[in-house]
Amino acid sequence: MDHALDITLTVNGTQVSRRVEPRTHLVDFLREEMGLTGSHIGCEHGVCGACTVRVNGDIVRGCLMLAVQADGCKVETIEGISDSGEAKDLQKAFHEKNALQCGFCTPGMLIAAQDLVGQKRKCSREEIREHISGNYCRCTGYQSIVDAIDEVINGQG
Ligand code: FES
Ligand code: FES
Repeated sequence: MDHALDITLTVNGTQVSRRVEPRTHLVDFLREEMGLTGSHIGCEHGVCGACTVRVNGDIVRGCLMLAVQADGCKVETIEGISDSGEAKDLQKAFHEKNALQCGFCTPGMLIAAQDLVGQKRKCSREEIREHISGNYCRCTGYQSIVDAIDEVINGQG
């Protein structure tokens, strides 16, 4: 029996309509249906943050949300956030501070960090660490990531 459902959502500013299986996770929909492979899949159960995307302005785990739950929502991925230039200061700082190695965590890390940058307030390195604590990085040891975010938020790092 066909249980597929029709959904309409906005992805990176473009309205899209698709027929999806109810069990399809948002990150799989974005990667496989939309070809937006910047959102990565790591743990698939909400721990690592590799699948972080923005839904109606809030950061969410794409592996914990179903595509059908995004019906009517505004979804933004790293591709959209990058193309708009919104994260350009962070991307520059990540590059300059060597805040990535393999890059697997980087899209999710940037979206989480941009959420803090968007609050437009100074914050301590402890707050930065707390804010990105749901995003795992196996390579960098986090120091350079915190340095990069600190530079963008506080003008140092
Ligand atoms: S893949 Fe979603 S949190 Fe790890
Ligand atoms: S740069 Fe490799 S996991 Fe973070």
